[in-house]
Amino acid sequence: MKLEIDGKLTDRPAVWWDSTNAIVRMIDQTKIPFQVEVHNCPTYRETAQAIKKMIIRGAPSIGAAAAYGLAQAVREFWNSDEFESQIKTAYNELLEARPTAVDLQNGLDFICTTEPLEPENALNRAQLFANRIAEEGQKIGQIGKELINTNMNILTHCHTGALALVDHGSALSPIIQAWQDGKRFHVYVDETRPRVQGRMTAWELCQYGINHTVICDSASGFFISQGKVDLIILGADRVTRNGDIANKIGTYNLAVLASRHKIPFYTAFPTSTFDYSTLTGKDIVIEHRDTIEVKQVSGCSQTLNRNHIVSLYTDEVKFSNPAFDVTPSDLITGYITPNGILNKSQLEKTLFNRHSHITKGTK
Ligand code: MRU
Repeated sequence: MKLEIDGKLTDRPAVWWDSTNAIVRMIDQTKIPFQVEVHNCPTYRETAQAIKKMIIRGAPSIGAAAAYGLAQAVREFWNSDEFESQIKTAYNELLEARPTAVDLQNGLDFICTTEPLEPENALNRAQLFANRIAEEGQKIGQIGKELINTNMNILTHCHTGALALVDHGSALSPIIQAWQDGKRFHVYVDETRPRVQGRMTAWELCQYGINHTVICDSASGFFISQGKVDLIILGADRVTRNGDIANKIGTYNLAVLASRHKIPFYTAFPTSTFDYSTLTGKDIVIEHRDTIEVKQVSGCSQTLNRNHIVSLYTDEVKFSNPAFDVTPSDLITGYITPNGILNKSQLEKTLFNRHSHITKGTK
């Protein structure tokens, strides 16, 4: 993606391996939309921390970051007598950084199955994993743009653009490509409390000049009931074999609304988001994040031009902060994948056959 970093226009993915300095680098998503800054991770521990703190976020991007992180661990411990146990520790630390997005586990397992598991091979494989996600994002765009017509109103949730998917995006990719083809439409962007990923969606849409309006998550029912939404496209953090999806909290609300109002409801994702070992959404572990995310908001003060954190509540108030919810497959119209727009029955067969070489690791 094109980004202005330190006053220079550069082409960068969301996360990459810097071979000159032998470190993992990533765009710091906690600074978007106010600043574009690069965050450096010299060791796998810093990469795990960056995933945990959402400096990098979006299921496929954190999968790529985890793959790079494990490759870093292979480099770090290569000459150690305890290589195996140290790789196991690194694997677990990276895996536990964010539990819901399966891309993270798929990325780690992809590195574990490197033959032989040595530094250069592991890095090459991490790069392969990341590049494949980016390529799939582009394909998702080509395939999914056919669902979009001029004059449509599209609603999207969370952020599914280039930063979330190494490059190109998942649900945002069809929207961008349809616009680049000359179709003219409007996008409702859910703000997506508490982390307000809608800021990033709006930031990316602004870069392409795509017509959009940010709405509070709780306003989506209002616009839908007024007949102002023709199509809902969003991403996924884990897709189980029966087609259930875990996605950003608030997705289930939208799916129920879409079903009530007969609005097509699509999820777009790369193959790294498919969970080969889980049968249904009931078995997905939902990440509960620090409740400080609900209690406080952060943003840029325009007068001081720097980031501010403010509390919305007093200290005695209690909160709960589930980061994802599960939407059952019967509420999903279709799955926009790099292999086509699939229905529930095509999903498992198509994705399982194509990526059967991503096997579960033994760590
Ligand atoms: O918690 P986040 O910001 O990492 O959320 C993940 C997401 O970006 C979304 O849930 C998205 O829809 C799937 S990732 C393209």
